Amino acid sequence: MLKLAVLVSGGGTNLQALIDAVNDGTLARTRIVLVVSSRGDAHALTRAREQDIPVFVAGRAQYPDAAARADAIGGALRGAGADLVVLAGYMSIVPPELTQAFAGRIINIHPSLIPKHCGLGFYGKNVHRAVLDAGETESGATVHFVDEGVDTGPVILQEKVPVLPGDSADSLAARVLVTEHRILVEAVRRFADAERIT
Ligand code: GAR
Repeated sequence: MLKLAVLVSGGGTNLQALIDAVNDGTLARTRIVLVVSSRGDAHALTRAREQDIPVFVAGRAQYPDAAARADAIGGALRGAGADLVVLAGYMSIVPPELTQAFAGRIINIHPSLIPKHCGLGFYGKNVHRAVLDAGETESGATVHFVDEGVDTGPVILQEKVPVLPGDSADSLAARVLVTEHRILVEAVRRFADAERIT
């Protein structure tokens, strides 16, 4: 059984894709054991509570001190026995204590074709605005390992999405999200399969 912890900050559609995939059997031998949010008002928390998934809120408001915040999150992840940590719309930088403790077991979904339009300041709608401002004709989604940099870890899966004439950041975001949901589930499925084999 692969135990997932999912870190969120906002709407949680990627979390929902994982929940749905667990519930419909696409993700077999997988359980979401914890959702950690950087914000107490994240809609993702409602999605988790509806499924009786334990939640833990650990943002700047709850833990103003960065080291205490990292300790609290690390303790929650270990306490839940998480095998794989998934950043699914998590808008905080993961501290090195956690990237080191979960090296090779922490992944992120990013809404662009990394190495394009990523790094510090590139999150959520900012990414899609940057893609449109650059006049790109294609964008996409990337699942990658999280290392100590921002969006710098090795790519696991990446898929292109067309940018269409007249696109806004919202319309592009909506199109990219569909692909995000699919490749995030696929990436987690590969971890579950690998665990079964080893
Ligand atoms: C998603 O597009 C995700 O890739 C992005 O935030 C959105 C969250 O949506 N993440 C980042 O930009 C991280 N750098 P969701 O809360 O509906 O899953």
